[in-house]
Amino acid sequence: MNAIKSLNQEQQDIVAKMRTLITEVRKHNNAYYVMDEPTISDNEYDQLRLSLIELEERYPDLTQSDSPTASVGDNPLPSFSQVQHDIPMLSLGNVFNKEELAEFMRRVNDRLSSNNKNPAYEMELKLDGLAVSLKYQNGRFVRGVTRGDGQTGEDITQNVKTINNIPLVLEAAFDIEVLEVRGEVLMPKAGFERLNRKAKQVDGKIFANPRNAAAGSLRQLDPAVAANRPLAFYAYSVNQGLPEHIVNQSEALGWLKEIGFTVSAVKVVNDLEEAQAYYESVIEERSGLPFEIDGTVIKVDNLQLQSELGYLSREPRWATAYKFPAETVMTKLNAIEWQVGRTGQITPVGKLEPVQVGGVTVSNVTLHNIGEIQRLDVRAGDTVSVHRAGDVIPKVTRVWHELRPEDSQPVTLPTHCPVCDSPVVLPEGEALARCTGELFCPAQQQEALIHFVSRKAMDIDGLGERWLISFFEQGIVKTVADIYHLEQHREALINFEKLGEKSVNNLLAAIDNSKKTTLSRFIYAIGIKGVGETTAQNLAQHFGDLPALMDASIESLETVPDIGTITAEQIYDFFRAKHNVEVIEALIEAGVHWEKVEQVEAEGLPLDGETWVITGTLVESGMSRDDAKSKLQALGAKVSGSVSAKTSALLAGEKAGSKLTKAQQLGVRVVEETEFLQMIQD
Ligand code: IVH
Repeated sequence: MNAIKSLNQEQQDIVAKMRTLITEVRKHNNAYYVMDEPTISDNEYDQLRLSLIELEERYPDLTQSDSPTASVGDNPLPSFSQVQHDIPMLSLGNVFNKEELAEFMRRVNDRLSSNNKNPAYEMELKLDGLAVSLKYQNGRFVRGVTRGDGQTGEDITQNVKTINNIPLVLEAAFDIEVLEVRGEVLMPKAGFERLNRKAKQVDGKIFANPRNAAAGSLRQLDPAVAANRPLAFYAYSVNQGLPEHIVNQSEALGWLKEIGFTVSAVKVVNDLEEAQAYYESVIEERSGLPFEIDGTVIKVDNLQLQSELGYLSREPRWATAYKFPAETVMTKLNAIEWQVGRTGQITPVGKLEPVQVGGVTVSNVTLHNIGEIQRLDVRAGDTVSVHRAGDVIPKVTRVWHELRPEDSQPVTLPTHCPVCDSPVVLPEGEALARCTGELFCPAQQQEALIHFVSRKAMDIDGLGERWLISFFEQGIVKTVADIYHLEQHREALINFEKLGEKSVNNLLAAIDNSKKTTLSRFIYAIGIKGVGETTAQNLAQHFGDLPALMDASIESLETVPDIGTITAEQIYDFFRAKHNVEVIEALIEAGVHWEKVEQVEAEGLPLDGETWVITGTLVESGMSRDDAKSKLQALGAKVSGSVSAKTSALLAGEKAGSKLTKAQQLGVRVVEETEFLQMIQD
């Protein structure tokens, strides 16, 4: 740095301006790259940096050696020169669980004299980057070297200068002749993502992970390229030049922070339990950290004790890495099985040779859908990489095609349900295949039963979910039709959970009552995918009776209000699955019946041709939405469940929400309750 004293007033002012800009740029570099919390816009940042560059170009003599733009003048290197480390850069041993950590602490204790037993430990994050040694002479940065083989590394001085949070001049260490600081160079997650995003736009190199990106950036021969890589340095030790009054590792890190370095979290612990608690707290915080870590490091805090303990071959006896369980492991995919979900979706599940991933044993992994299988190009017998981080669901991240057995076969979607043998369909444009045996498929029956008895469906009061599931598990009720044969199990029911005769009589009476229903309730109750209450009413109104609905083509289904192609196909498929038809026949045979629907002849009615939607609560009249709907239908309107450009009007009661907003956006007429009441009166 130029000595300010020998400069004239004008020069002093320019230097002061440069220093202000340097401080600002550094501050924002740190906020952006290290903390991932930029406080100014990219544009403002560029402006600041540009102002500094302009000053430096105008006054090259006054340019400050620690300027964050400093690298720009350096030329690409032909290669890196090799540098011998004064003190070898060693590595750490590993422990993976509490028992192994206890064993490490026991070994430390065994070696310490009796008055030094049970020392305090200092714990840090194990940063997932590259070890680098930085050397300062009288407070000025002179050389940066990679770890290399531990004895000799590569001189990366000019790249180190481009790392924004590395101080090039230490305000407080001018009196230390040689200071060596070691730490980790890493690429924060946000910077890594930004870099890859930019690279994608220009077809540049995509890095597999932040560590690779950091390594690639540090080994850039062209410092101008390195300067644009978002790297950060976290100091973790002082290997030469530590002031004598500092006696602990924790204090050393505090001092590093004071003189301008970034250090990661530090925690002093006194025993195994505290160490374990810290390790567990770090696991919790891990995903929220701005950079990647692969564990914690535990070090005997007292530096004197550290030197007493010394080294065993290439590892210190006073420290070890307490690593996180591996998050990505390779294993064999033994088979791919198709599972049927409660609502009929068919998903492929990979059966793995069990492995430990992220600390738990994993033997199943979802492969999501046939599209994902094709994308991964995965087959039974393949070797795969499985990743599981935190409580995230395990995932196949890679298929080792080079290790594929010769006789492996491509995976195809099953044509029939593995549970009930009904046809499987994969609707166009959808990812998930589904079983069409909604009423019959045992995998879907529990859901089907619960839906069938619900209030808006067959409304069988007294047949609660708990009993229903219990009956199902005992095999008394399998399909919804079996509900109407429960009287055959009268005796068993009376004894069942001490229900008693009275309750059973009530229950059987409720079941009997439910036999008399309406067509729309029945259509809703049989649980066709995509057919809610409104659609069921529209279908009943449109077709008038069940046989017409069962025979309807996709085209004619599409003419019913509210029904698009997907729902039309789902209804069509439902009635093509022979098992569903059998259950429907059994229901009718058991006595379920309804009156033929009087199809409203809409022609000539005031709201003929209009489609209405109802939302909110009708406070003034106290009318339920169902009542309002019947009134509208009686006036010839169709009533739909959702607002679209085709909607003629929205009847909006109190507390109308998103439907009202949507109607307003689409310019759909909004009718308030008063107006509606007036309308029906007229
Ligand atoms: S102390 C004698 N502290 O882990 C070695 N290392 O396997 C003392 N590392 O090469 C190293 N975070 O690159 C230390 N907080 C931390 C660390 C850390 C990451 C890396 C370092 C070293 C490797 C050892």
